[in-house]
Amino acid sequence: MLSDEVRMEAFRAAIRAKVRPGDVVLDAGTGTGVLAVLAALAGASRVYAVERSKVINVARRLAAENGCAEKIKFIQGDVREISLPEKADGVTCEMLGFCGMGEGIENVLGHIRENKLKSGGWTLPRAMKTFIAPISDRLLYSELFMEGAELGMSTESLKDEITQDLWIWNLDRRSFAAEPRPAKEICFETGVDRSPPGGCVFALGESREIHGIGSWFEAELAPGISINTAPGPPFTHWSQSFFPFRHPIRAEKGDTLHVSLNGIAAADGDFFNWTAELRTGENIKEVRTQSNTLSYHYLPD
Ligand SMILES: C[S@@+](CC[C@H](N)C(=O)[O-])C[C@H]1O[C@@H](n2cnc3c(N)ncnc32)[C@H](O)[C@@H]1O
Repeated sequence: MLSDEVRMEAFRAAIRAKVRPGDVVLDAGTGTGVLAVLAALAGASRVYAVERSKVINVARRLAAENGCAEKIKFIQGDVREISLPEKADGVTCEMLGFCGMGEGIENVLGHIRENKLKSGGWTLPRAMKTFIAPISDRLLYSELFMEGAELGMSTESLKDEITQDLWIWNLDRRSFAAEPRPAKEICFETGVDRSPPGGCVFALGESREIHGIGSWFEAELAPGISINTAPGPPFTHWSQSFFPFRHPIRAEKGDTLHVSLNGIAAADGDFFNWTAELRTGENIKEVRTQSNTLSYHYLPD
């Protein structure tokens, strides 16, 4: 994450654009403290750096190393449960999970907007869109499900496991079976949620096999400054996410694919629920669904 130049440069530029001299800033989920230090260096008078894990001790050292120890107040705990002595002018929060969802950013920034931010205060990121697309990629599917391997044994139970995971991969735009659509569209600053209720509908222009659902996000940090994790360069540590179907769906020209995807942050981890339904007209032909997609894996390049 720290070596992801696209991420770091975008956050640095956005913090410099948003923080006004004298601002009180809340850095929610400060981790190693990099955003808190950037906010202090950009002119904040005080930064409340809140982190629930012990990594906060690293953040304390980073603040001292950069001469900001006086300006940054560190608080260990859940940012939704701690209280602050004053409201903030702005909040920085990099809880952007794979697909943008899944690390609880929506819930955390919703709480902060209602309870810890001055009226009219800024959030960084300001807004986020999660995109999804049906993926038709036989090679990717074969690699995941070990189609070429001569093992001389049955591996069905392992293949079921593979479907329960989220796979991190650099998707190829040529594998899109339909134009990507936003499954989630939220403005953190206002709370306005323009996500399509019930998910996205994809019109399939030709007959082909669909092997799973691809997803990525675009986060608007500040006006003109975004992080876009769509397929193609510049690459980020998020790459794209792939939710594989255990058995591909055979779609015919004119069919529609109805897809919903939700990321949920829970006490025992982050997970995703997704459903894909192939229809001819109103007629449901095939359904693939998965709850509690928990862990994630990187596919080798
Ligand atoms: C993706 S890391 C980002 C760290 C750092 N802000 C950065 O940009 O490098 C998210 C951090 O948020 C923390 N976190 C997640 N949910 C939290 C919560 N509800 N309250 C406090 N910290 C939280 C995690 O422990 C993790 O350190």
